Amino acid sequence: MRLILLGAPGAGKGTQAEIICEKLSIPAISTGNILREAVKNGTEMGQKAKSFIDSGKLVPDEVIISIIKERLGEPDCAGGFILDGVPRTVVQAEAIEKAGIEIDKVIDIEVADEAIVKRLSGRRVCSSCGASYHTIYKPSADPTKCDRCGGELIVRKDDEPSTVLERLRTYHEQTEPLKDFYAARGKLAVVEGQEEVADTTALVFKALEA
Ligand code: AP5
Repeated sequence: MRLILLGAPGAGKGTQAEIICEKLSIPAISTGNILREAVKNGTEMGQKAKSFIDSGKLVPDEVIISIIKERLGEPDCAGGFILDGVPRTVVQAEAIEKAGIEIDKVIDIEVADEAIVKRLSGRRVCSSCGASYHTIYKPSADPTKCDRCGGELIVRKDDEPSTVLERLRTYHEQTEPLKDFYAARGKLAVVEGQEEVADTTALVFKALEA
């Protein structure tokens, strides 16, 4: 299964990718996580990406295309993969096509902007392993610590309300056109994001089996 998860920031792509990747035993590749790791390690790419991420803008296409081509060339992707948050522009989608990377299905998780704002204000992430929680919908046992590794839970810098609004604007302008791009290729399945994570998962698997 070669899958793309499409959706607004906070729609639940990362949450669903983690579940699908465990069930199907295929890697989940998040350009957001790769970029945040690069920022944390102070690499050249991280330094270039930081100002775009912090202001809610997209990192330039050429940076993303080179990340994704390199990552998909690794052996663990041979049996399938989940792309979480990439492609995010038509230029990125075309580059994936031109590189001969086949995609079986694109799942678009739809969530209203008002619900997104609520979700992202409650998101907490582990500063050590990157695991994601929510103060109401997916709380950790200790609100300050990661259940998985005990790392400190923090608020992502780009989850500040003004940046969330900019990310949503960027999504509607630059990423939403991908729905038409993949619908025209007969690959798009739309899933309405639900209040409960498990309910969304059930709809995602129904779409995958269709
Ligand atoms: P990235 O990390 O990809 O951020 P994003 O797309 O904005 O997505 P998020 O990680 O914020 O949300 P998500 O949909 O994964 O939701 P989650 O599952 O965490 O990218 C960050 C930045 O990097 C971008 O702004 C850009 O600058 C750059 N970048 C990355 N890729 C790029 C690309 N391809 N091109 C250019 N630039 C790129 O869920 C959110 C919260 O809601 C969590 O707290 C979760 O617990 C909770 N939740 C999840 N599901 C549910 C549910 N069903 N009900 C209730 N709560 C739920």
